[in-house]
Amino acid sequence: MSKRGKFITFEGLDGTGKSTQLRKLAAVVRAAGHKVVETREPGGTLTGEKIRKVLLDSGTAGLSPMAEMALMFASRAQHIAEVIEPALAAGSVVLCDRFTDSTEAYQGSGRRLGSHAVRELHRVLCGNLQPDLTILLDSDAGLSVSRARRRNKRALKVASRGHADENRFESETRAFFARVHEGYLAIAARDHGRVAVVDARGTPGQTHQKILEVVRRKVKL
Ligand code: TMP
Repeated sequence: MSKRGKFITFEGLDGTGKSTQLRKLAAVVRAAGHKVVETREPGGTLTGEKIRKVLLDSGTAGLSPMAEMALMFASRAQHIAEVIEPALAAGSVVLCDRFTDSTEAYQGSGRRLGSHAVRELHRVLCGNLQPDLTILLDSDAGLSVSRARRRNKRALKVASRGHADENRFESETRAFFARVHEGYLAIAARDHGRVAVVDARGTPGQTHQKILEVVRRKVKL
């Protein structure tokens, strides 16, 4: 049997550059000879991508915060069973764009459902699976969210050509994102062994170098 792989998650507000940084890290880890699985939440499986569409489509009206949290976990439970656990068992490095910290920050803090409910659901539905390392990209909340809004408006223009409308969260208020930001910082303070806060206000190249340094220091690949 091969050695169990490593599970690395990327977290942060919308527009902090998580997806770009995940791709850059994947290229480096692959070049070093490891098997790498790049994935995301909500999504990552066929079922999860359908759930993602319901969750992020701005046409989804009146979704209750509890239903929103339940759908995030439904996507995650399927993702763990179908993709993450098999990949880890096969010795791969799994790089995941968002995981349960997103639920704690967005639903727990942003929607005010509290950390306790999120952590309990994680224990029951996700076998309490913990990442080996979480990279929390931290930036100015206002700037990141405006960046995400501009990106999604561009995507919306081509929505008629088959691109998804993923604007539901971006239409939230500044106060909501300020709570999400606070939620993330509280997780980082509590789980400082697992969560590394990386300043993402520089260029993508500078942020990438900081991430490489953290990964080299914290994960034995
Ligand atoms: P992204 O894939 O562009 O990061 O968008 C996913 C959106 O879903 C983002 O606004 C954060 C939100 N989200 C939650 O609210 N809770 C969660 O558990 C996850 C995974 C994402």
